[in-house]
Amino acid sequence: MREGQTTVIRREDYAAPAYWIDSVELTFDLDPAKTRVLNKMRLRRNPEVAAQALKLDGEELNLARVLVNGQGTSFKTEGDQLVLENLPTVTDAFDLEIFTTCAPEKNSKLMGLYVSQGTFFTQCEAEGFRRITYFLDRPDVMASYTVTLRADKKKYPVLLSNGNLVEQGDLDGGRHYAKWVDPHKKPCYLFALVAGQLVAREQRIKARNGREHLLQVYVRPGDLDKTEHAMNSLMASIAWDEARFKLPLDLDRFMIVATSDFNMGAMENKGLNVFNTKFVLASQATATDVDYANIESVVGHEYFHNWTGNRVTCRDWFQLSLKEGLTVFRDQEFSMDLAGEASARAVKRIEDVRVLRTAQFPEDAGPMAHPVRPDSYIEINNFYTVTVYEKGSEVVRMQQTLTSREGFAKGMALYFQRHDGQAVTCDDFAQAIADANPSSELARLLPQFKRWYSQAGTPQVAARGHYDAAAQRYTLTLTQSCPPTPGQAEKLPFVIPVALGLLYADGLEIPGSARTVVLSDAQTEVVFEGVASEPVPSLLRGFSAPVVLRYDYSDAELLTLLAHDSDPFNRWEAGQRLALKRALATIASGATEQPLDAAYLDAMRAVLRHPQLDAAFKELVLTLPSETYIAEQLEVVDPQRVHAVREAMRGQLALELREDWAWAYEQHHDTGAYRPDAVSSGRRALAGLALAMLCLAARETGDVVWPGKTYQRFKDAGNMTDRFNALAALVQSGHALARDALQRFHALFKNEALVLDKWFALQAGASDRGGDVLPAVKQLMKHPDFTLKNPNRARSLIFSYCSANPGAFHRADAAGYVYWSERVLELDALNPQVAARLARALDRWKKLAEPYRHAAREAIARVAAKPDLSNDVREVVSRALA
Ligand code: PHE
Ligand code: ZN
Repeated sequence: MREGQTTVIRREDYAAPAYWIDSVELTFDLDPAKTRVLNKMRLRRNPEVAAQALKLDGEELNLARVLVNGQGTSFKTEGDQLVLENLPTVTDAFDLEIFTTCAPEKNSKLMGLYVSQGTFFTQCEAEGFRRITYFLDRPDVMASYTVTLRADKKKYPVLLSNGNLVEQGDLDGGRHYAKWVDPHKKPCYLFALVAGQLVAREQRIKARNGREHLLQVYVRPGDLDKTEHAMNSLMASIAWDEARFKLPLDLDRFMIVATSDFNMGAMENKGLNVFNTKFVLASQATATDVDYANIESVVGHEYFHNWTGNRVTCRDWFQLSLKEGLTVFRDQEFSMDLAGEASARAVKRIEDVRVLRTAQFPEDAGPMAHPVRPDSYIEINNFYTVTVYEKGSEVVRMQQTLTSREGFAKGMALYFQRHDGQAVTCDDFAQAIADANPSSELARLLPQFKRWYSQAGTPQVAARGHYDAAAQRYTLTLTQSCPPTPGQAEKLPFVIPVALGLLYADGLEIPGSARTVVLSDAQTEVVFEGVASEPVPSLLRGFSAPVVLRYDYSDAELLTLLAHDSDPFNRWEAGQRLALKRALATIASGATEQPLDAAYLDAMRAVLRHPQLDAAFKELVLTLPSETYIAEQLEVVDPQRVHAVREAMRGQLALELREDWAWAYEQHHDTGAYRPDAVSSGRRALAGLALAMLCLAARETGDVVWPGKTYQRFKDAGNMTDRFNALAALVQSGHALARDALQRFHALFKNEALVLDKWFALQAGASDRGGDVLPAVKQLMKHPDFTLKNPNRARSLIFSYCSANPGAFHRADAAGYVYWSERVLELDALNPQVAARLARALDRWKKLAEPYRHAAREAIARVAAKPDLSNDVREVVSRALA
């Protein structure tokens, strides 16, 4: 397969476009084999740029005709570009008409116009519009769109595009048409069309300002009963953005359409969001609590883009975090606000931080490390990363911390006042937040704060305390540093808000000690007076900055924080640190047995049995740090050793607390009629963990009662969360009943694609016992329900093994890596974006101990040796080998 030449795109090379496109009239004759696209544009030279040829982007298009002001014209093609040199030299507007065809049914990349289960969809972000027609495919060119769709009426009864439906009717030969006008100018990456046999759940709403809107969720006919939660989430999103940021819906009609073939989660096309089915469809029989929560947050995320991304968009793709970091921040805040009370908010915060630390910290320490606003790329699709999204969100969160919640809302208002309708930069955003809060720490430190956008790497903050008993004075010294990343050897100090407080050893918070210290120098001292005895510092409360906090906590200090800290995040963090200390000590010692001591086990028992703590919070505390997180703390990683030690810890936690787990299960398993709210989903999560632990303990004790109960639960469960948790408990403990349960599960859900994805993922993610997972994965590749062409299915099997199951993937015989390299190459021929994501599974190979390190390098080199790799995979593997 071909790709354009490997060119490095640099942020510093940004130049305004030589032409503006004011309006576009598109006419589609939709046909899977050959779709005809007529594109009539009204253009104008940009008077601020020297006169030059017009170069339009196009990819895999068949060009039939080019007319300028209705006349034939000379043109040439240069690589993927269409070049027009003899255009009118005056700056008056002119018409350009381009007629092309493309083949949607052959489009396996799922970028541009493609067919999924007989329905047409488009995906244009980041550079997919050029696969539909020739265009200035860049986000700073904003145009008005009028779109006419024509297609066979029987096969494609529903014809959708952005904006308002202004006309529709029948045509000859069983065809029909629909004409859509988008009232808002937009960059072409927000264009969308959908055509097929779909049905919609509809809802009419009246906004606070009295405006009426039609909301629609379109799905395949059998799926209508799974759209209620998505619609509720959409209504909640609209209400939230009005209440929190005074941002109303600016459209008469807002549509969501679900497709089962999608590279990402969802896409915020103006007025016509396209979603992966995974983030729309839910019923209690088929979706878990986690699915419900994800749907809420992704529906929110795409809706919030309507302002942060669509009304104000990015000047260029280096500014991607302008919309993504900000919109992730908004969806996180939305979920937190909906969760309700402080403890439920903390649970959401812990979950978000866990994602950041297990996925983004490794990225920031590996070969693909890049700043939140990157300086260069080869393939922009490779920069839809946890750094741009999740770390970007933390950078926005810190701006809120440094200006207050109200101050930040004022900053948002100023941002829209200044930039509505524009394509802008991350600088413009931070400037608006700071300008609206002139006396804030953000305004005082803005140039330095913006290093969060330009410097890659996870900063480290080392803390030391000194207690002077005679003077009753406690001095805290905080030192920051940041490791080098590719292309950035030296880092300058960051602005780091550190929320903290002091506790006395008995757990009482020292009055007046809580504050947010803003670090801006390499070293900062904080002095507390009137401290009656040596305190325990609670540092980085709420995870107030995306940094690694180093402090040499004693067990006693951690136990105090775990039991008493007023900050729930740090209570959880203390539990994680206690577990991590034990994991690291055991890994270093070479022994594997009994990593956990009585002090730790008693502390966990106390949390589990605590009369006041929420079930959801208990579940988080009692879940050990992941293998990936543990591995990140090591200089050299032996993945099998990490796996063995963590499994030993789990086994011990299961066995020693088995009566407590039984108690916890009995207390929490009955949650009444299914509702996906925070309280009942927390109870299900804890009951699920308890079952998993009881099945694990049964391995040691030979107990048959709990596995039997678990199997019964699997069969009787009234909702997918309980059913799946029971199934997972049997599979993860390697119990003999797992086989039969897996078979039943498949038989029950053979027509539910999203449930089959879970079935594949569970088996590929199973806890490895003597290398048994890889053969199972290979066998599953031959299963009639498996296909590489559907990204969700490919991810459910291959990614669950390669990227999410380190204990099974890293094999001394290198067979996991060989399997990985074969799949990367196989996928690359079909869908380079998905292949490049899989390619990242070996990002951290340089940290591996032998023989893994050598074998991993060889596998990457084998991929890199393929001559016709996509730019996507080439960029990832060449950075890995650099
Ligand atoms: N912009 C989408 C989002 O985060 C993500 C996306 C990127 C989807 C590229 C498709 C292609 O909301
Ligand atoms: Zn987004």
